[in-house]
Amino acid sequence: MTLMAPPASRAQAHGHDHRQAAPAPLLKFHAPEIVFGFGSLAEAGFAAARLGARRPFVVTDPGICEAGWVDELTAYLRDARLHPVIWSAVTPNPKDHEVRAAYERYVASEADVIIGIGGGSVMDAAKGVAILSGNAGDILDFAGVDQVTHPIPPMLMIPSTSGTGADVSQFCIVTDTERSVKITIMGRALVPDISVTDPRLLVTMPEDLNAATGLDALTHGVESFVSLAHNPLADSHALNAVGLVCRHLRTTMTSPRDEHARAKMAQASLEAGLAFTNAILGATHAMSHQVGGLLDLPHGVVNGVLLPHVIRYNARATPARFLDLAGAAGLDVDGADGEKAAELLAEHVRRLADDVGVPSGLRALGVSEDDIPQLARTTLDDACLTTNPRTASEEEIVTLFREAL
Ligand SMILES: [Fe+2]
Repeated sequence: MTLMAPPASRAQAHGHDHRQAAPAPLLKFHAPEIVFGFGSLAEAGFAAARLGARRPFVVTDPGICEAGWVDELTAYLRDARLHPVIWSAVTPNPKDHEVRAAYERYVASEADVIIGIGGGSVMDAAKGVAILSGNAGDILDFAGVDQVTHPIPPMLMIPSTSGTGADVSQFCIVTDTERSVKITIMGRALVPDISVTDPRLLVTMPEDLNAATGLDALTHGVESFVSLAHNPLADSHALNAVGLVCRHLRTTMTSPRDEHARAKMAQASLEAGLAFTNAILGATHAMSHQVGGLLDLPHGVVNGVLLPHVIRYNARATPARFLDLAGAAGLDVDGADGEKAAELLAEHVRRLADDVGVPSGLRALGVSEDDIPQLARTTLDDACLTTNPRTASEEEIVTLFREAL
């Protein structure tokens, strides 16, 4: 997300008096080319060819292979006269050594365009390979904002879950296995070139992953809407994503083959991704990355547990924004003030988390009181904390973790 003030010299040259009404800041909206709809996987061959592929490097995991999606993708790539190379050794919360191993295979096989087909872990690993192929060094060296300074190979992403947003985002999250923390690599270079969302792929996702990634999409919508970097173009996607998750996630749990609900969750994931890659995130993600790094837990489940607590914490920093969010979630906020709306939204998120089987606290996920000091310390270093609407000290993060325990 880039916000720019107009150059002073140009504003003065035009003789405008900006003291009367401040001009809206200029903004950029990053997004890949998007192909969306049932059967859109069939477009992947043409899409990769458009990016100049001859030997595309397909990053995936064993579950996606087993579900048959890699065979289907490979057939489409061959139809387009391409010669794919498959790398399927990615695990959840991709590890630094997995990215290094995938990169070595990429180099050895003289591949070109990088394709990620799978969930957020797969797509983050694919981005990791792209980063290493354009930039010398270790993947952990690129933590932070805009550390990827050299051009990277074209990327095509095909999501198989309903939440991560990695197919459109400028984020890449990798686990530093020596320190047991997740590092966040952020920068516009990481926005993929093409995103192909085929809602058919969502049907083969296990139920617990459906719940987790749906709550992740909800968290992206809420956090990007109240982010300090929010902007009007991202706002509408964030609000729409929140509404879609609240209306359709339960149906995908009770009627997994309901195509309408799957398509709506695929759209929620996509729109939440567009929102957060342009408006960034907040404290829920900053905290959740630490828990996920320490205990290798599903990212969306941790978010689902933390989000209601962070909503309550942020309520007084930006109450009017929570009125809009609660309205988008379908809550009756007539006559309510922003803080009341935030409380209603927090309760609503918790009820949804209960309904899709997410535990009520972090303790049930294996976090103990003794882990909290370290979790709070590393949260302060996470790039996502910088756009949280309310500043947070180490003590305040400790309190939030205790409340969520
Ligand atoms: Fe997330």
